[in-house]
Amino acid sequence: MGRRHNDAVDSTSQIIVALDCDNRATAEAVVKRLGDECRFYKVGLELLTAVGPDIVECLVAQGKEVFLDLKLFEIPNSVAGAVRAAGALGVSMVTVHAMGGRGILSAAVEAARDFPGLRVLALTVVTSMTDADLADIGIDDATDGQVLRLARLAQRAGCHGVIASPLDVSALRSVLGPDALIVTPGVTLSGESPAEHARPDTPRAAITAGASHVVVGRSVTRAVDPASAFRRIRADLVP
Ligand code: C5P
Repeated sequence: MGRRHNDAVDSTSQIIVALDCDNRATAEAVVKRLGDECRFYKVGLELLTAVGPDIVECLVAQGKEVFLDLKLFEIPNSVAGAVRAAGALGVSMVTVHAMGGRGILSAAVEAARDFPGLRVLALTVVTSMTDADLADIGIDDATDGQVLRLARLAQRAGCHGVIASPLDVSALRSVLGPDALIVTPGVTLSGESPAEHARPDTPRAAITAGASHVVVGRSVTRAVDPASAFRRIRADLVP
């Protein structure tokens, strides 16, 4: 699954700030306020749909890395086309649903080969799903078992890594080995207290458990001073 996750990374490039908003002005204001402090942004379906792919090209033109969170779940031919389009925009990461099976994972990986900087990340079980939700769709396993099963499938298909909840990072690192990217949303410093630093949902806990990157959204983008919030998260990553 690609390079070793901890090769030549510093704490700044391990933090991906999610630009979850519905207009260009808000997204650009966050990027401007973070300035050189932040080098990696996640663009999701909301911003992409509201504003269009030009926002991605603008970020790339400014030297930023972009994680385009497309969460692809389509027939392999369409997935491959979307991955090529993402690669042409210059993004560094794109997501595909592992629940779509081996065919679409392989199609995504194959399509990404033309773009050496593009990493294909598999989504296993979205964090909002419970064991009961899995049962509803005919999956007779708990979420943690399903996460590991799909992560192994993604690795066999050649994916560079997975998106994982902080609680799954440690088991995934053991299963996937040192080379996989493990990108972890759901981390925050808000309401932090010394006791909370031990919780697995802090950036440091996620990285210590084996995540290669953490995704932070509102803790930074809605902070009164986003740059200062970003610096607090970066400081939290340094042991
Ligand atoms: O909560 P926050 O604003 O930091 O969310 C940032 C990103 O992380 C969102 O784009 C969302 O897709 C993702 N996220 C997630 N699972 C969670 C929390 C957030 O996938 N439990």
